Amino acid sequence: MAEAARPRLERTSLGPKETQALGARLGSVLAEGDCLGLDGPLGAGKTVLVRGLVEGAGAADRVRSPTFILHAIYPGPLTVHHLDLYRLDPGVELESLGVEELLESGAVVVEWAERAAGDWFSARCRITPGIGDRRRLELDAPRHLRRAWEPG
Ligand SMILES: Nc1ncnc2c1ncn2[C@@H]1O[C@H](COP(=O)(O)OP(=O)(O)OP(=O)(O)O)[C@@H](O)[C@H]1O
Ligand SMILES: [Mg+2]
Repeated sequence: MAEAARPRLERTSLGPKETQALGARLGSVLAEGDCLGLDGPLGAGKTVLVRGLVEGAGAADRVRSPTFILHAIYPGPLTVHHLDLYRLDPGVELESLGVEELLESGAVVVEWAERAAGDWFSARCRITPGIGDRRRLELDAPRHLRRAWEPG
């Protein structure tokens, strides 16, 4: 299916556990070469999603809050590279962070993806806060990732 025609999958989360569980479902089908960009304001739940994702990918380590970490590596059956661009200037080139090599050996998930220049993302998830703990998560991703999010 052409990228432009790819359906967007929208899910609602009512709390951090639900966001983490959605992340775990994505993580369980994540594959080498996937590059997932996360968008959403401070405190939206991007790191919570990544925590689930890393868990679902089968890594033994728990995701720390990466505010001060640019790149964390979670080895497992699939290595997950977790990048956080928050502290970088907008327009940062992911090439300069070595993303090409990272994608050859695992999957990459990037917080503050909107700060990245270029077109490295094969999938994108936007988290929009609602009232209280409610979050809307919109996934624009290839089929193998979307399927993990389909209800049921
Ligand atoms: N439905 C929800 N999904 C995710 N987190 C939620 C939800 N409801 C409340 N929260 C809370 O919101 C916070 C989300 O924090 P998190 O660090 O994941 O945000 P972030 O998007 O990574 O922020 P930053 O831009 O600072 O990296 C946590 O304290 C979490 O408990
Ligand atoms: Mg974060």
